[in-house]
Amino acid sequence: MVLTRDGARATSNEQLATTMMNALLKVQNLRTYFFSKRSGRFIRAVDDVSFEMRPGETFGLVGESGSGKSVTALSVMGLVRDEPGVLAGRVLYQENGKSVNLLEGLPNYVKLEQRDAEVTRLSKDNTNWLKAHDVKMKPLRGRKFSMIFQNPKSSMNPYFTIGDQIIESVMWGCRKKREEAKKQAVDWLRRVYIDLPERRMQEYSFNLSGGMCQRAMIAMALACRPKLLIADEPTTGLDATIQSVIVDLLLELKRELKVAILLITHNIEVIGRLSDYIGVMYAGRIMESGPSDTVLKGRRTARNHPYTIGLLQSLPGEDQVKRGARLKAIAGDVPDVTDLPVGCKFYPRCALKTPRVDKKCKTQEPPVFKVGKGHTCRCWLYTTK
Ligand SMILES: Nc1ncnc2c1ncn2[C@@H]1O[C@H](COP(=O)(O)OP(=O)(O)O)[C@@H](O)[C@H]1O
Ligand SMILES: [Mg+2]
Repeated sequence: MVLTRDGARATSNEQLATTMMNALLKVQNLRTYFFSKRSGRFIRAVDDVSFEMRPGETFGLVGESGSGKSVTALSVMGLVRDEPGVLAGRVLYQENGKSVNLLEGLPNYVKLEQRDAEVTRLSKDNTNWLKAHDVKMKPLRGRKFSMIFQNPKSSMNPYFTIGDQIIESVMWGCRKKREEAKKQAVDWLRRVYIDLPERRMQEYSFNLSGGMCQRAMIAMALACRPKLLIADEPTTGLDATIQSVIVDLLLELKRELKVAILLITHNIEVIGRLSDYIGVMYAGRIMESGPSDTVLKGRRTARNHPYTIGLLQSLPGEDQVKRGARLKAIAGDVPDVTDLPVGCKFYPRCALKTPRVDKKCKTQEPPVFKVGKGHTCRCWLYTTK
């Protein structure tokens, strides 16, 4: 490790390659804050988030609304504009054996002082950071990384036809000439099961149904053959049958194209169907992460986080649906990210705290513990220390 003039860590390519092993993306200790003018405090939207993805794998990020899922994705894409924004961490990306830290140089733009997890001083030259970062990110966006969102109608340009938007995406992403790009665009629409693709090419997004528009958006995002697709609530807002069709389509494309997907949703059923690995987010942190079937056990004996257990218990079982029973919501409110408790952020809502750990939970934030193979959990319950 080399220390630069102002203490920023510089890592040699060799060191990066060892860290990356066979990963495509490795996010380490990412931290993204905003400033709340109303309360005069920082909104700690993403706080010390780490996860990794291998080529072709789907990593599902699940958690209640406001837990920091979208901000994590936007931070990876370099699309956080509001201040102070991304403050710390590394986003390592590897392709063809070459690794880069997409947040390299960030510490040169940020001065952050903390005492007991409380930020005491923070300043950031955001304008110059964004300029420098954009130089690195622009060639990647729409080529190596692409995104689909919850509301495809608002993310498609209403002034251009669906066809023109997909053609642009192919021309930029695959560096194709217009004629060739047009052929590929029609092909993509067919691949996402849009009938009469030549005719749909001429239409505008506002003329398509929500489900059809989401398919066109998926076609547009994949047409550039990205290595990483970020799907932020891709099925939210669509009705149940269409949701299921979109999940099937994503499953099929994931297998066929071997694209890595960062799937974000508050719908744990969607996560379960698509993800190989899952991260459960709460108050800007990943509370638990591991292989899907391990995380979705939802039991204390499987060393699942009390929050994960609560989320899974809130799902209606088959007979509950038949009987029309109400969902069992997790007691308590989604936390105020400008005013989080000192110890475990989930403490006020935790139904599993025991006298053995209670004091610790209240006063010390649990670090990331390894509790099984590829399985981590931020919970004092699963340590004997
Ligand atoms: N641009 C922004 N400015 C200020 N606060 C923001 C901004 N974007 C997100 N937040 C806040 O950050 C937290 C995490 O938001 P988000 O990542 O959108 O949650 P999720 O996607 O899990 O629902 C929330 O408290 C949200 O209000
Ligand atoms: Mg979101």
